[in-house]
Amino acid sequence: MSGSFKVLALGGDHIGPEVVAAGLQVLRQTADQFGVPVEVEEDLLGGASWDLHGTFCTDAVVAKARAADAILVGAVGGPEWDSIRIDGPITETDGLTRLRIELDVYNALRPARAWPALLHRTPYRWEVVEGVDLLVVRENSGGIYYGEPRGREMLSDGQVRAYEISEYRTSEVERIARCAFEAARGRRGHVTSLDKSNVMESGKLWRETVERIGRDEYPDVELHHLLMDYALFAVARAPRNFDVLLGDNLFGDLISDLIAVVSGSLGMLPSATLPSAARAGGPVKGGLYEPTHGSAPDISGQGIANPIGAILSVAMMFEYGFGCPAAARAIEGSVDSVLNAGLAPPDLGGTADTGTVTQAVLDSLGSRAS
Ligand code: IPM
Ligand code: MG
Repeated sequence: MSGSFKVLALGGDHIGPEVVAAGLQVLRQTADQFGVPVEVEEDLLGGASWDLHGTFCTDAVVAKARAADAILVGAVGGPEWDSIRIDGPITETDGLTRLRIELDVYNALRPARAWPALLHRTPYRWEVVEGVDLLVVRENSGGIYYGEPRGREMLSDGQVRAYEISEYRTSEVERIARCAFEAARGRRGHVTSLDKSNVMESGKLWRETVERIGRDEYPDVELHHLLMDYALFAVARAPRNFDVLLGDNLFGDLISDLIAVVSGSLGMLPSATLPSAARAGGPVKGGLYEPTHGSAPDISGQGIANPIGAILSVAMMFEYGFGCPAAARAIEGSVDSVLNAGLAPPDLGGTADTGTVTQAVLDSLGSRAS
């Protein structure tokens, strides 16, 4: 690497800019403490971009994202922009999906863990949730989100027909399966692959491909397949039985919200979406880092959004984007200390606002040796 790591920050809509501001404070302080040179540029995405430019993601933002080492995203969307209809692919009406496609970030890593201080904030008995540590590996650039054709048409009987296609090619399943197996090797060595191979053709291809990659290339990793409907029940009932959960774009989206229950709130969950498998030690250029939660229009502008999902996304940026896992562990340790001290924003049943939680994380970070 020559010079600094370039970070593009795209706050997006509603609470997105609020949590990205918190994430950037943590990013700057951590970079200083660990001697990681970073340069940050900010721009618009989603409804904020639509209001100014008439598009949800400009070509200029795509160009900046392509040049960046890492992109931090808040959240996009809101009722103001829900009724805007543009014919064509989803990338026209959703800036985030355009960015994912333009960057070909297909490997979405979405971890969730049971934080000791938050066990009582979950709906679980402690013995069911204690120690839970899950990673969803979500295929993020194919499947039903992007299959063509898609659209709607008027039928002669006056009804409207709306449709999309769930499609996968072998190579797309192979590459995400490898990401899941690689991730499992660095964890507890267990992958559960999710599909609806009982009803979907793309699900059958998914299952046979994951099975083959596992057998031929990762015999050391234990692999199980579960039908998606049963998986939702099995993971919710006994989350400790699972390690890496591998899903296609849609099923990965669903299960990544479900596993937030073990952390106490969706506001806790970070993500890293990479254009390759995560590499131990070496930075991966062009990853997109974002909290898993949405733009939460109901609480925007009040300064009470939980910044921890964004802050932990910055930790993932240090680990994967900058190849600095020590900084990632320091941020996670600071979040843990803050939670142990009893601070919690309203989504976790507490009263601490965004600024208070963020400042507490910065203080804890500052007290750590780098
Ligand atoms: C996510 C979100 C997005 C998705 C939306 C905002 C397009 O739910 O990142 O999980 O469905 O991928
Ligand atoms: Mg989602």
